[in-house]
Amino acid sequence: MKAVKTREQLIKAYIDFFKSRNHKEIPSSSLVPANDPTVLFTTAGMHPLVPFLLGQPHPLGKRLCDVQKCIRTGDIESVGDEVHHTFFEMLGNWSLGDYFKEEAIKMTFEFHTKILGIPLENYAVTVFGGDKRIPQIPKDDEAASVWNSLGISKERIAFLEGGVLESDNNWWGPAGNVGPCGPCTEQFFWTGKEKAPKKFDPSNKKWVEIGNDVLMQYVKDKEEKFNLAKQKNIDFGGGVERTLAVLNGFDDNYLTSIWQPLITEIEKLSRKKYENNRKEMRIIADHIKAAVFIISDGVIPSNTERGYVLRRLIRRAVRYGNILEIKNSFTKNLVRPIIEIYKSTYEELINNQNNIIQELEKEEEKFRKTLESGLREFEKLVKDKKELSGKEAFLLYQSYGFPIEMTKELADEKKIKVDIKSFEAENSKHQELSRTASAGTFKSGLADNSEKTTKLHTATHLLNEALREVLKDKEIKQKGSNINPERLRFDFNFPRKLTEEEIKKVEEWVNDKIKKKIPVIKEEMQLEKALKYGAQAEFGTKYPEKVCVFTIGDKKNIVSKEICTGPHVERTDNLGKFKILKEESSAAGIRRIKASLE
Ligand code: ALA
Repeated sequence: MKAVKTREQLIKAYIDFFKSRNHKEIPSSSLVPANDPTVLFTTAGMHPLVPFLLGQPHPLGKRLCDVQKCIRTGDIESVGDEVHHTFFEMLGNWSLGDYFKEEAIKMTFEFHTKILGIPLENYAVTVFGGDKRIPQIPKDDEAASVWNSLGISKERIAFLEGGVLESDNNWWGPAGNVGPCGPCTEQFFWTGKEKAPKKFDPSNKKWVEIGNDVLMQYVKDKEEKFNLAKQKNIDFGGGVERTLAVLNGFDDNYLTSIWQPLITEIEKLSRKKYENNRKEMRIIADHIKAAVFIISDGVIPSNTERGYVLRRLIRRAVRYGNILEIKNSFTKNLVRPIIEIYKSTYEELINNQNNIIQELEKEEEKFRKTLESGLREFEKLVKDKKELSGKEAFLLYQSYGFPIEMTKELADEKKIKVDIKSFEAENSKHQELSRTASAGTFKSGLADNSEKTTKLHTATHLLNEALREVLKDKEIKQKGSNINPERLRFDFNFPRKLTEEEIKKVEEWVNDKIKKKIPVIKEEMQLEKALKYGAQAEFGTKYPEKVCVFTIGDKKNIVSKEICTGPHVERTDNLGKFKILKEESSAAGIRRIKASLE
């Protein structure tokens, strides 16, 4: 096998190969999806590209590639084994209506077998085997025959049936509730010490998936129908963590160089060995790595949505630190090794280092105060019992800060049930926003170009400008934005609460521009030119070398210039009446405005 052993080598080999095939590299997007209220975190490389997969032209053309940071929260409680991670990096390449199945499969094959040097005898693939419930989507004989023409024997090509509705078994997407999706073909690597069996059995855990080509030909709509897409795309994703592990011959991802510095630090802190405490150390390393990345993208621990996921991760790590008998506040000690591993790709880690340490320390300190007594209370509550009631679980949550998932995990360890339903009822009685409800409230997403959302996008640009004008502070920058059909949410740097008068003035400024029926013009330009032109850019966001700029105004009077992917209205009239619903603090030095158009 070729000498690809480290993260840097793998990423470089991948990007160089796809660049040599005329792909343009794009930077990783934030873990917090811009304008997609249906998903808490970016879960795949394709997620930030949804508008382009749906047909909007990308400024860099039809072939793109990148490495994207991702968070998957689906199985946080499974973390602790060899292969599960909350944070991971995904290698991605895309054809936006350019090449399709045959060329994609050929390139993937060449990357795996020639560039990474994986021998054919250790390689196998799956293809879509059809789904009886959705007969109009056929089984993918075509993909199978391309693989076969490349030298993969029929026995090493497995047709997997079903999964369209569940989005598994060789069906991928959409990322949220609606959007681009399609059948896929996955590539597997044999990790067994013995010779790989002739016939490929995808359920044999020694075959590890290292890549997935999604053949995007469908768009799922709000009625859950699969419509043929106007544009056929390719979406390839390959996990950096597991690819690295298999290239190094490890059956435990945590033995690779992107985990070992963390494991070593945890060994030092706990004065224990990894060999004897694998599960605990993996959980701590995984959760704190994820937490560091989440904080560096502007999230702080809280009781709702992303902040709650972050809280859960930190608290579960602290609990396992407690099991390892680490006496002092320790999570902050892992920040440095994490930054060392990733700093060349994600400079936001270096820029936010102090904030990351502070937030971790604060959350850990807070939880440490109640953890031991909470554990004692838990023991008392479950003594001689088979089930923990919702009220009891709620007590652990409210008085001791135990996330319900942690209580459930503690109970599972003792084979005791938890009445989650009545916990949720108890929780909503106390007027906590139910997490599941809030996560799934809006059935739109990046795929949503509805009229309401489009108008709110343009209103957001006006608000951005209004703040600088009214507050007379040219340093104000966008720190985050999130739009759903009901409202816009806009974060910006400003040291204090806005007065009622200022809020009124901001509203008036925006409404005045709406009344003036100003044109909105879209142009593509090099990033450098866009910045020289004075276009606003979101603070801390990395942009590709070519971008779209939206100008609100005409030659005589430009109201706003901003780098953005849209969508936007063509003129500011008929936006409706702009109204600020709320102005509040979002983090230290950051204010948050929620506003709507009536
Ligand atoms: N989007 C595809 C995945 O996540 C490539 O597997």
